[in-house]
Amino acid sequence: MPKSVLMVEDDASIALVITAALEAEGYSVSSCESIAERDRLLAKGPFSLMLTDVMLTDGDGIATIGTVREQRPDMPIIILSAQNTLDTAVRASDTGAFEYFPKPFDLEELVRAVGQAIGSGDGKGIDDDDDEALEGLPLVGRSAPMQTVFRMITRVLRNDLTVLVLGESGTGKELVAEAIHQLGSRARGPFVAVNAAAIPHDLIESELFGHEKGAFTGAVARRIGKFEQASGGTLFLDEIGDMPIDAQTRLLRALQSGRVRRVGGTEEITLDCRIVAATNRDLMPLIAAGQFREDLYYRLAVVPIELPALRERRDDIEALARHFLSRAAAEGLPRRQLSAAGAELLAQQPWRGNVRELRNVMFRLALLSRDDVIDVATIEGLFGSQGVSEPAQTTGNPAGGIHAAFSAWLAGAKPPVGRLYDEALAAWERPLFEHALAATSGNQLRAAQLLGINRNTLRKRLSELSVDPEQFTART
Ligand SMILES: Nc1ncnc2c1ncn2[C@@H]1O[C@H](COP(=O)(O)OP(=O)(O)OP(=O)(O)O)[C@@H](O)[C@H]1O
Ligand SMILES: [Mg+2]
Repeated sequence: MPKSVLMVEDDASIALVITAALEAEGYSVSSCESIAERDRLLAKGPFSLMLTDVMLTDGDGIATIGTVREQRPDMPIIILSAQNTLDTAVRASDTGAFEYFPKPFDLEELVRAVGQAIGSGDGKGIDDDDDEALEGLPLVGRSAPMQTVFRMITRVLRNDLTVLVLGESGTGKELVAEAIHQLGSRARGPFVAVNAAAIPHDLIESELFGHEKGAFTGAVARRIGKFEQASGGTLFLDEIGDMPIDAQTRLLRALQSGRVRRVGGTEEITLDCRIVAATNRDLMPLIAAGQFREDLYYRLAVVPIELPALRERRDDIEALARHFLSRAAAEGLPRRQLSAAGAELLAQQPWRGNVRELRNVMFRLALLSRDDVIDVATIEGLFGSQGVSEPAQTTGNPAGGIHAAFSAWLAGAKPPVGRLYDEALAAWERPLFEHALAATSGNQLRAAQLLGINRNTLRKRLSELSVDPEQFTART
């Protein structure tokens, strides 16, 4: 019998995220949005626990908790609230609720609290089932930076505010745009994506706004633009930083007036779509250089959502890696597991290509692994031979790239927890300094110049690392 949780939450996106997390831990979740539904469900059957929001459509979840207590005196209750005022916290604790979670809360902590309240300390069924439950959730990640993103997403679901999604390549900008569409009120309408970087400059306006027959050479028939196609839904303007300046001007005009005109046309068409724009470029320098219109920037960035680089949320790497393995299996590749040590090694990679790179690596591992369990050796094999996550500027490293060398060092050195950073730096500094000293025949001033660091810094580090510069003077 799975432990059952009753969730009273009127914010659909929060309910979705919590449900996925609880189901991943093996709970069954019944969810409702109002006090009336809550009482109806409570009358029908017992629940192991109730999670409740405070501000509900038909009243206050705390003020009405007396009826719940009367019906189910022993059922633990956890209160979630966006009103993290002292007053709400006090009222929550007055009810004798097991826990009070001010929003935004840490999802993992919430799941843990549910487990404790129900009295199942061991309910930690990670690995495979976890993946399956996460399948329905478009955006994987429970780290603090991702919760900030989730929170921003939830704020734009019930309105049509223009959203600008920022972040490095491969961080999930398109996925966020899709999530906003799917979870929002325009989900029944179309999701239309336009990639400004992929369309020839002279066709961009016709692509966005459409054209009338004969508007320009080659316009043999009337064409409906993306703005019109997206009517009732969401228009995703991808790579907005690459949009030519004339098109920017027309786009701005369209956004300001709420109307578009087909190229060569006279009829004005009223816009009816939510706009989500995205770019992996830093728009500020482009604005400064006159390549991106500042007024357009402010039009688009009504709600900016900044996606963290994967290296800034290493906590999520393991869950993402497992998620992609189960995706790979769903697409017909062999089903693989990931060992704990393997997950740790993955979490240490720089992931310059972010989630996209991790996804590609996991698919490749699923395909190439000889074993059902992907562990350190498999990963090192791949990293060594193909230079996964290899920075482009690395040249002439014979051992298959810096990452292979690093992995080899790590396996041998096994630095204690808390010392990894210092020891890794020392391990890389030594050959670097030796190279610089060898190249300058032990001349510390010139070695420092070559490295681009202060001579005193070099001297200090050499002595800390016990590197003797004298040793290199002999080589002249
Ligand atoms: N949080 C996430 N959970 C699961 N999959 C993700 C997540 N973020 C990104 N992905 C996956 O990673 C890949 C890259 O994501 P996406 O295309 O959205 O990146 P992007 O930010 O638009 O990159 P670019 O700037 O290069 O266009 C996709 O396959 C996407 O499904
Ligand atoms: Mg993209």
